Amino acid sequence: MTERIVVVGAALLDGGRLLAARRSAPPDLAGRWELPGGKVEPGERPEAALVRELREELGVDAEPVERIPGEWPLRDAYVLHVWTARLRPGSAAPAPLEDHDELRWLAPAEIWDVPWLDQDVPAVRETLTRLTAGRAH
Ligand code: CDP
Repeated sequence: MTERIVVVGAALLDGGRLLAARRSAPPDLAGRWELPGGKVEPGERPEAALVRELREELGVDAEPVERIPGEWPLRDAYVLHVWTARLRPGSAAPAPLEDHDELRWLAPAEIWDVPWLDQDVPAVRETLTRLTAGRAH
């Protein structure tokens, strides 16, 4: 059986807004928006992978807050897990350092203004529920 590889995605929240990142590659995903993140490395804790990926991709110092319940299959043996996260005090502002060519902080009313990757939609919907319930600022 093929080993399952977890991809962690971050619903990074700040002031009641959610960070969306537009992918610049590969060609079939370019132009679609996602929760930034990436593959968990062998022996790595998923929360540590989340912090590492956000540092590499966005140059931020972030901390995971809570797991969004659920998991979503990606291509091959990948499965997506999502955490809410926030910037630590003193963190730089996010910048599209790799994988992305544009970032947007979306208020709840703007969340569906961007074309999300299909597989991210359930997690984004759940994050929006938390935002509008005032539980994830
Ligand atoms: O950065 P790393 O190479 O570890 O991973 P990635 O290329 O950013 O993501 C691995 C796979 O997960 C890619 O196929 C992405 O399209 C997918 N992914 C996703 O579907 N949704 C996300 N929020 C993040 C990654």
